[in-house]
Amino acid sequence: MSGTYEIAVIPGDGTGPEVINEGIKVLKAASEKYGVKLNFNFYDFGGERYKKTGETLPDSAIEEFKKQDAIYLGAIGHPDVKPGILELGILLKLRFALDQYINLRPVKLYEGVDCPLKDKKPEDIDFVVVRENTGGIYTGMGGVVKKGTPNEIATQVMAYSRYEVERCIRYAYKITRKRNKKNMLTLVHKTNVLTNCGDLWLRAHKEIGDKEFPDIKQDYAHVDATTMWFVKNPEFFDVIVTENLFGDIITDLGAMIQGGMGIAAGGNINPDGVSMFEPIGGSAPKYTGKNVINPLAAICAGAMMMENIGEEKIAKAIERAVQDALKSGKIKSLSAGKMGMGTKEVGDLVASLV
Ligand code: IPM
Ligand code: MN
Repeated sequence: MSGTYEIAVIPGDGTGPEVINEGIKVLKAASEKYGVKLNFNFYDFGGERYKKTGETLPDSAIEEFKKQDAIYLGAIGHPDVKPGILELGILLKLRFALDQYINLRPVKLYEGVDCPLKDKKPEDIDFVVVRENTGGIYTGMGGVVKKGTPNEIATQVMAYSRYEVERCIRYAYKITRKRNKKNMLTLVHKTNVLTNCGDLWLRAHKEIGDKEFPDIKQDYAHVDATTMWFVKNPEFFDVIVTENLFGDIITDLGAMIQGGMGIAAGGNINPDGVSMFEPIGGSAPKYTGKNVINPLAAICAGAMMMENIGEEKIAKAIERAVQDALKSGKIKSLSAGKMGMGTKEVGDLVASLV
């Protein structure tokens, strides 16, 4: 064995456990091939546990996760639990406590996948979004006064420190250089209105770029215009860096142009700590237990996880297997229930191709 890794697994809610099963199937097949051992350690955090015990994620679990090499997450979100409780109590708590300050979301259209954009081909849709993942409006700064009265005032503040902005932008420049495609880093913000926060990002983008990454082209786009370019000219982009909420919004659109939530994966990354990988699509409760949900996003998240722990060969093998499975034409659609085969069968197909 050339390496042994401890992977914490949180299958989570809804279809999370089903897609994670297939992800693990593929990870096992690929890691065995390369003589690497993955130990999967399961945790039952999610809606069901919360309903039974009232517990979301205890601090002791965070301490356990700190000792793992990575975290593999299915989905968090339960129809019987009020919105916000599980999202804040589990997903955001993990991102914050483990300081996973990058959310890396590749947007790549694979051959054989239907794209909703007319005339766009795989070579046109291949970029990466670096979303800041622990700051901005997500920190929950602000409050409510005069609640329930006609004068109620509520604030939720987009707050950023120079430190947070710098480390995110620096990471984005580094991966732009590593990717070596167009060597262009587009900052996405709304500097025409958010003149405080936007200016902080703009200056950091320019100063770090000028000083440390003179080989990388600097580019800027407003967030509203960016949604337009995603549809009109996605081929323009190489790497995008943006603040938390803008990144959340534009990556849902990104997922759609790469073929849908069935294929979109992401990584919550702490470059110096423990990172967490997940399909970005959510728990899809109505499909639970039916063997119809698409596991490819979870499988791709597994590939990202392998790259992150330094097992690039395994990551490549999984990515190639996913591409071969899509090219084979056997998977009829990426949408749940329309794949022409079941969740398990898609997992079997990819596992057979690694
Ligand atoms: C995502 C999700 C989360 C976010 C929610 C579930 C808190 O939409 O990972 O994109 O907003 O970050
Ligand atoms: Mn989102």
